[in-house]
Amino acid sequence: METLTKRILPPQHRRFPPTDESKLGFGDIFSDHLFKMDYHDGQWRNPRIEPYAPLQLDPAAMSLHYAQLVFEGLKCFRRQDGQLGLFRPRDNFARLARSVRLLCMPDFDQELALTALRELLDIDRNWVPRSPGTALYIRPFIVATEPHLGVRPSNDYLFMIITGPVGAYYSAGFAPIDIYVEPQYSRVPPCGLGEAKAGANYASSLYAAMEAHKKGYSQLLWLDPCEHKYVEEVGSMNMFFVIGDEIVTSPLAGTVLPGVTRDSVCVMAEDWGLKVAQRLLSIDEIIEAGENGRLQEAFGAGTAAVISPVGRLHYKGRDIVVGDGGIGKITRRLYDELTGIQYGSRPDAHHWIMPVK
Ligand code: COI
Repeated sequence: METLTKRILPPQHRRFPPTDESKLGFGDIFSDHLFKMDYHDGQWRNPRIEPYAPLQLDPAAMSLHYAQLVFEGLKCFRRQDGQLGLFRPRDNFARLARSVRLLCMPDFDQELALTALRELLDIDRNWVPRSPGTALYIRPFIVATEPHLGVRPSNDYLFMIITGPVGAYYSAGFAPIDIYVEPQYSRVPPCGLGEAKAGANYASSLYAAMEAHKKGYSQLLWLDPCEHKYVEEVGSMNMFFVIGDEIVTSPLAGTVLPGVTRDSVCVMAEDWGLKVAQRLLSIDEIIEAGENGRLQEAFGAGTAAVISPVGRLHYKGRDIVVGDGGIGKITRRLYDELTGIQYGSRPDAHHWIMPVK
């Protein structure tokens, strides 16, 4: 393993993190340092921490043309006892390793990436916000850098980790949202990159999301790409429904991202003795459950928004109200438990929290 080198800003050149944390949005502010590592001649080289700065990238870099780019998202929390804690970071690096394989990118040392991240967080620990509901968002990503315009995997890559303080992902915070069930467009094709966290998947979600926005919906629910029948993800989150006594989420069958929050929700609900089913769920079954009063709750689950309650669904001209349109009991319990574990007010039975140092 190559040694990690560090070039750290002297205190007088460091920027100040925002003091008014109530105004923190998502993804606009970045901490003082970043991690970088190059892949060249068949090997990852020169892992280093240095001051955050714009990149020098050849205009022909392959990621800019053919989207050979993967990323991750995870959070570091300032916990009740003052310690900094990462939430399930090994799961994110393991998923990044699966994503790189699907995009024909080179494998990397997950433990080295984790060590580098913990060093980076220790250096920028002042950037981890203090207010309830805030966190330091961490974005590891790998981009193809070889200057070449033929379509094939790049020979060169850059692995980076940037971080920045964030507040709630949705400006409304933990409140029910209305979602548009997309009848026509697909997020990903079958047998494609759906289970990879690839930038390309997010690019292909933009057009339909913009159309849904124009209709007044902040998020859309994707149906499967083959039959446009079975529910998959909501926006950039995994989707859950509470129908009768069952909590249902779509199975991981290639077109759904294996979310770390998704897995945490399944584990917590099972711990409580609730019935969790990872199965196909058609929009017709949801409509029927809505009509006969069995559709009790619906929520999205993801790193950025944590748990996001859904109050109403709109599908082909009809509205389906979920429960009483407010925040369901299980949804709230999951949110309280998960954030409690993350901020340290509830026991961490599954050892999901890893201290920074
Ligand atoms: C997540 O919440 O897990 C996400 O992937 C959201 C991110 C793309 C902003």
